[in-house]
Amino acid sequence: MLEKLAQILLFILPAYCANGAPVVGVRLIGRSTPLDRGARVWDGRRILGDGKTLEGLLMGVAMGTIAGLIIHSFIPGIYRSSLEPFMLSVGAMAGDIFGSFVKRRLGLERGRPAPGLDQLGFLAFALLFSIFTFGPPRWLDALTLILLVAVTAILHIGTNYLAYLLKLKAEPY
Ligand code: CTP
Ligand code: MG
Repeated sequence: MLEKLAQILLFILPAYCANGAPVVGVRLIGRSTPLDRGARVWDGRRILGDGKTLEGLLMGVAMGTIAGLIIHSFIPGIYRSSLEPFMLSVGAMAGDIFGSFVKRRLGLERGRPAPGLDQLGFLAFALLFSIFTFGPPRWLDALTLILLVAVTAILHIGTNYLAYLLKLKAEPY
């Protein structure tokens, strides 16, 4: 049971890294280019807002992929291909971007919380990208999925609060 949980967490780690890297990375490089270039849509609001940047996207995909490739080289069998960490990372960033798109359409300003979407959007897209490319992973069943969702939500809330304490983020969520 614990071993299975460890394997699943290692599997999804590229998505976690991709999601977390921009928070630290954009701070470090100190420059950021909003992905939507400030553009607005039909509702007069930003497409994505200033929280989704090109630098963040590239860093997220890079860090997630590197983390996964390191795991893949030490523990073969976690991923079905060396391409899988990349797919998980791109999926995570796509989910995060999709989440911001939805938040803006709901009228939520950048940085406002959207419970559920903030914690799980990236996870859902990461899994979907991997499933579309490689099929469902063999460990995937309803119970495991519930466990993964619960662990991810708790970790997301915990790490975001930590980033807030470290003054990396303005809000604790
Ligand atoms: N970030 C980034 N580029 C990305 C994703 C995240 O630069 N593609 C950085 C931004 O500095 C962002 C921070 O990581 O503020 C935290 O990400 P997130 O919580 O997803 O963004 P929010 O600022 O909360 O914006 P939103 O309301 O759109 O989710
Ligand atoms: Mg946020």
